[in-house]
Amino acid sequence: MRFDLLTLFPELVAPFLTQGITRRAYASGQVQVQCWNPRDYTEDNYRRVDDRCYGGGPGMVMLVEPLERALAAAQSARAQPGPVIHFSPAGRRMDQALVQELAHGQGAVLVCGRYEGIDQRFIDRHVDLELSLGDFVLSGGELPALALLDAVTRLQPGVLGDAASHEQDSFSDGLLDCPHYSRPEQLGADAVPPVLLSGHHEQIRAWRRERSLWLTLTRRPDLIAAARADGRLSRKDEALLSAWSAGAPGPDGKTCL
Ligand SMILES: C[S@@+](CC[C@H](N)C(=O)[O-])C[C@H]1O[C@@H](n2cnc3c(N)ncnc32)[C@H](O)[C@@H]1O
Repeated sequence: MRFDLLTLFPELVAPFLTQGITRRAYASGQVQVQCWNPRDYTEDNYRRVDDRCYGGGPGMVMLVEPLERALAAAQSARAQPGPVIHFSPAGRRMDQALVQELAHGQGAVLVCGRYEGIDQRFIDRHVDLELSLGDFVLSGGELPALALLDAVTRLQPGVLGDAASHEQDSFSDGLLDCPHYSRPEQLGADAVPPVLLSGHHEQIRAWRRERSLWLTLTRRPDLIAAARADGRLSRKDEALLSAWSAGAPGPDGKTCL
């Protein structure tokens, strides 16, 4: 798997590759990452990568030509041309379903905008997919690119210490993850839920599922609706959900009405 990043700020990317659980995947080449700076593909003395916006107004626009040359260099360094992803507030919201899809692919070329953004003609000519990190505006596409890279890399075989770890993460089965606890068992007045100390695997599994359902129902009811539509809810899940929806208290003693 290989990711090529078109970025004016490769210095932002480099430190990210040497930290945390994903660093071995980058160091070993299991996930290859290379940055391409459009400034290295300029042909004028000023190494210009941006210019004023036609029609007037504040801010600068990233020029097509240095980007096109950088893209051509990146694609020719790949065994096969990769899909081109551009980060933009106008893009599809990034989610775990997309991350899982990309995690099974060969990687991509990630185009990071800066300033007011990229000349639309580059997007029209070359971009296969536009992705947004959320409904807010960042100064550049590097953080969304790194977010995507991290989310995809942690799904690669052997990257997480325990292979089952990401299977219980939020969104993997359509729901939010349950709460987690560690030592000490008693923290002032706050104790770890006794079932987690019981060693009774089936009861622990049921407790986690119930907490996960409750958290999802109260924080993200849209995910419950989607999980139901996908047939991911069991009869037991549905029984709990209809009791809560009828006013029965949830595991925290509150109601969701
Ligand atoms: C200052 S922003 C440009 C914002 C643009 N003028 C707008 O209002 O949509 C510069 C670059 O940051 C990136 N960016 C900013 N917010 C983003 C978001 N929510 N998701 C993905 N990329 C974003 C894009 O690559 C964008 O071209």
